[in-house]
Amino acid sequence: MSTVSLIGSGNVAWHLAHVLSHGGVSVEWIWSRQAGHAESLAREVKGQPTTRMSDVSRSSGAVLVCVPDHAIPDVLVEAADSGLSSHLVCHTSGATPVDVFPPAYSRFGVFYPLQTLTKGHHVDFDHLPVLITSHDHAVQHELTGLANRITDRVVYVTDVERRQIHMAAVMVNNFVYHLCDRAFSRVESQGLDGSLLYPLLKETVRKIVDFRQEGVQTGPAIRHDLNTLYAHLKLLADEPGLASMYRQLSRSINPELEL
Ligand SMILES: NC(=O)c1ccc[n+]([C@@H]2O[C@H](COP(=O)([O-])OP(=O)(O)OC[C@H]3O[C@@H](n4cnc5c(N)ncnc54)[C@H](OP(=O)(O)O)[C@@H]3O)[C@@H](O)[C@H]2O)c1
Repeated sequence: MSTVSLIGSGNVAWHLAHVLSHGGVSVEWIWSRQAGHAESLAREVKGQPTTRMSDVSRSSGAVLVCVPDHAIPDVLVEAADSGLSSHLVCHTSGATPVDVFPPAYSRFGVFYPLQTLTKGHHVDFDHLPVLITSHDHAVQHELTGLANRITDRVVYVTDVERRQIHMAAVMVNNFVYHLCDRAFSRVESQGLDGSLLYPLLKETVRKIVDFRQEGVQTGPAIRHDLNTLYAHLKLLADEPGLASMYRQLSRSINPELEL
């Protein structure tokens, strides 16, 4: 497959447009509700911007629907009404089932890049997993060919398997990001240098990736150091939400703690 069109111009559309274009796939149409958004991405990858879905139906390759999960059903209906149901169309959502496609579609699937993607922040796609779901072997084959333009790691999954991975991804990325953001903000609000924690954060990720199977958790909860835990909870007395997370996570690390 040498051509794609994109519906949406947000984070995922931005990354796929750039990385596919870099991989030799020509980006034909970029659709957005807002002309300016489509125009700016189209300029970057030499595609054609449009706010008319019927333009996208003139495209010759696959169509990737990169809109928020809640918008996918309506966008697929609008796309079908605009003549796109005969194309190979896929969405990029981890949590949305493949059966979200209305019956009008004959070739459809899911093309889920398993990474946190933010517009303008380049990431390395070389070994990034792309999870593919489709009931149709020919579609699986075509989507694999497309994914192989950008990565050497393509995995077929069912809807349920993809949702399990997506749920874990929310914990691994969103929750960790949030917790770190709260922790850094907390020490910075006390006039301390948050970057003191950067080497610890990097080593934590390395330990998880390389040694997690060995059970290398450290800290006051696993050591049953109740005095230390109470001292930390006292420090967090002015942020009950954070204190509650601290207590729950400590109990999850060591269920024997009476905290
Ligand atoms: N970001 C990630 O890390 C990531 C990773 C893997 C998969 N995904 C999945 O990829 C999909 C897109 O995520 P994203 O992060 O790229 O979202 P996003 O940055 O919020 O971009 C959403 C795009 O959809 C358009 N849009 C929003 N609401 C719409 C509606 N009601 N009707 C039509 N278009 C609408 C927006 O258009 P306007 O420009 O007109 O506002 C924008 O172009 C989601 O299914 C998400 O679960 C995200």
